[in-house]
Amino acid sequence: MTSLDAEVVRPLLRGSFGDPYLFEPKCTSTQDLLRDSGLPEGAVAAADHQTRGRGRQGRRWEDAAGEALLLSVLLRPPPTPALPQLSLVVALAVAEATERATLMQTGVKWPNDVLVDGLKVAGILLEASGGTVICGIGINVNQTAERLPRSPRRQAASYRTLTGTQHVRAAVLADLLEAFEARYRTWSTGGLAHLLDELNARNALLGSRVLAQGRPGIAGNIVADGRLRVDLADGKTELVQSGELDVVQ
Ligand code: BTN
Repeated sequence: MTSLDAEVVRPLLRGSFGDPYLFEPKCTSTQDLLRDSGLPEGAVAAADHQTRGRGRQGRRWEDAAGEALLLSVLLRPPPTPALPQLSLVVALAVAEATERATLMQTGVKWPNDVLVDGLKVAGILLEASGGTVICGIGINVNQTAERLPRSPRRQAASYRTLTGTQHVRAAVLADLLEAFEARYRTWSTGGLAHLLDELNARNALLGSRVLAQGRPGIAGNIVADGRLRVDLADGKTELVQSGELDVVQ
């Protein structure tokens, strides 16, 4: 098991994300380590194991102790109407870090999953309160196939199952935080428009059959406000928000 201890991770950090950096071998959820903490933007909490890891839509996020990357980043972004955009910013940074680690083409499944070969390698959970957003990221790194969560919804992969080798989690974490900070600064100052090319180049839903609020169509590009374009079967075009889309399997 590679260590995420502060003395291993801190020397690898190059920006202000990860300052401060908190590490717990075990906690309920890394989200809880930052909530109401009063810590500055960029504070990061990581753990080897969560006893109550949270996924989206009230689901649990299970981990194999010491094998995944489980982290949260505290942010104070521009006002919350832009919140759905933030999950795309995180997803882009996670996808880029995944590409560098695995040397494999990586997709962003709008609005917030990261896929390789159609398999989920990472999930993102944003929890907002007041002006603070705690951005939780779970990346499957060193799990073998047997130790990956078996979701009936989507099959999972880890960097290890994709590449056949183990990865140094501290190095992946440092690389991810650097990418995330750069993408976050671009977005905070100029909006999503400056990241659209990179996002759409990885748009895993592009061309998929979908239902937009029940109406059949084909998924198109992500647009500058973070919505997804859907070309409906009746010839109309719709821009959908997260929660308004079902993918036809
Ligand atoms: C999802 O795909 O449903 C989102 C999963 C997010 C999991 C991460 S692991 C680190 C952070 N702490 C949590 O309890 N959840 C997020």
